[in-house]
Amino acid sequence: MRPASSTRPVVPIMLVCQCNMITSKEIENIVLDLLKADPWQLVVPAKVYSELNRRAKCGGCVPNVVDIIVRVTENYHSQQALETGDVVSLPSGLEKLKKQQSGVRRERRSASHRAA
Ligand code: FES
Repeated sequence: MRPASSTRPVVPIMLVCQCNMITSKEIENIVLDLLKADPWQLVVPAKVYSELNRRAKCGGCVPNVVDIIVRVTENYHSQQALETGDVVSLPSGLEKLKKQQSGVRRERRSASHRAA
């Protein structure tokens, strides 16, 4: 039974690749392992099959594998952001950058010699 505090939908385990008998859980675990090794790497279906020592045969499962990769990657990064508190709103981040950059000459131009 799902805990009451969990907001994530429960995704049932299903057979994704009939040619290689790969389940959604196996793919999720591989994607998580890859993300733990390098959180910013691009995980593609070929890398998942390679980690499982298998190859896509008919390719009919590839769209579903892509969906699983996207879902697991989004969940992983949102979870990481919540744990580390690294979520920064874009306007405040830009304002901080502007303050850091103020007074610094950019492209060898100063504000007093504007052409327009
Ligand atoms: S269903 Fe996955 S390769 Fe055919």
